[in-house]
Amino acid sequence: MNPAPVRVPGDKSIAHRALILAALADGRCELANLPASEDLASTRRVLAALGTRFAASGESRVSVSGPTGWRHPAGPLDCGNSGTTARLVVGLLTGLGVPATLVGDTSLSSRPMDRVVYPLQAMGGRLRYERDRDRLPVEVEPRASGSLRVLRYRSRVASAQVKSSLLLAGLASGTEVEIHEPAVTRDHTERLLAALGVPVEFGPLADGGARARLAGGREPTRGRRGAIAGFELEVPGDLSSAAFLGIAALLTGRPLRLEDVGLNPTRTGWIELLKSAGARLDTRIRSERLGEPVGTISLEPGPMRSFRLGPDEAVRCIDEIPVLAVLAARIPGVSEIRGAAELRVKESDRLARISENLRGLGVRCEELEDGLRIEGTERPLTGRVRTGGDHRIAMAFGTLGAAPGCEIEVDETEAVAVSYPGFWRDLERLGPGGGR
Ligand code: S3P
Repeated sequence: MNPAPVRVPGDKSIAHRALILAALADGRCELANLPASEDLASTRRVLAALGTRFAASGESRVSVSGPTGWRHPAGPLDCGNSGTTARLVVGLLTGLGVPATLVGDTSLSSRPMDRVVYPLQAMGGRLRYERDRDRLPVEVEPRASGSLRVLRYRSRVASAQVKSSLLLAGLASGTEVEIHEPAVTRDHTERLLAALGVPVEFGPLADGGARARLAGGREPTRGRRGAIAGFELEVPGDLSSAAFLGIAALLTGRPLRLEDVGLNPTRTGWIELLKSAGARLDTRIRSERLGEPVGTISLEPGPMRSFRLGPDEAVRCIDEIPVLAVLAARIPGVSEIRGAAELRVKESDRLARISENLRGLGVRCEELEDGLRIEGTERPLTGRVRTGGDHRIAMAFGTLGAAPGCEIEVDETEAVAVSYPGFWRDLERLGPGGGR
């Protein structure tokens, strides 16, 4: 059977970066296939408050004109639920030397900020916590002297947000920045920068980590005086959103072909894991857009084996772990996920949420400090899950609810709007049982 091709909305991570770099570019930028996600709306709102002009020309298409002079916002910049907005923008503001205060919703205000604030302070940025240490609101104060210091930084956390924040600070101030990370995280910022002609070197290291280095000594990238020329980008489909549909297809036993999906190797961990667990899955790269490989994923359901996801692979599918965990609940045998302690500081404590909800549905699940041990079952799973407003928990359990014999009610279905507003509709289209 040849399934009809399905498309997922544009990639959220790439879209955040494209918007920010478009605001920094010297010339108008045209961005297409932007996802309608709330997180992305947060980045747009913040950039608009700083003087960036957006002209929409269709649902997912926008022209971006960066400011000639960055506006000093009168009120706080609201990052909503979006960690990527808060962490990338704090680096941008530090680099630009534009004073502002960043705030977020309750979930974002309980997530760590020191991972970016500390190295930005080491560069000479003047940042201050307004209330609690390590938490929003963070105030970026005006800089006394013009320039920032060269940064060579070994990060303890494997985080693309940290790396990107520091690269943006370097870019916006013309300062050299070199970052070593303990594992290879998504490299969208580096790829975009390189494709736009910015001198950046990056790649994996022999110790399992990675390095990214942005050369200094350039004209600071400030609006019209920038090092980046206006550009166009059609954002590739979101590989993380694709994982939910792919796993729904495996659970419902339907073949699936996803087209126009980003296939960046720093994000394909879930595909390799599924293959190693016996799934018949094929990827084809068909083009490249500003350094990002784009192509097709074809998938044929079949029997699967339990799996072990280790620390090296976990970082390459960090956002897909919730949906991999629900799949494990339907595969015979015990599956184990390790090296995923970062899940505790996402939009919710995802390790706690997953295990609490799986156990509530009658699945044997052990919560480990840095992971989960899940025993698959064929028994029907029914019940109500509590998402804590976390979009990926809502989508993971929605996906599990699509499996034959499962009837799962998700308490806050609207949480999916953070990354994938059309999720329930797309899940339903995949077949009977899809949806809530
Ligand atoms: C993201 C990086 C990851 C990921 C998040 C998006 C990004 O977070 O979980 O959904 O766009 O840089 P960390 O940098 O905290 O690992």
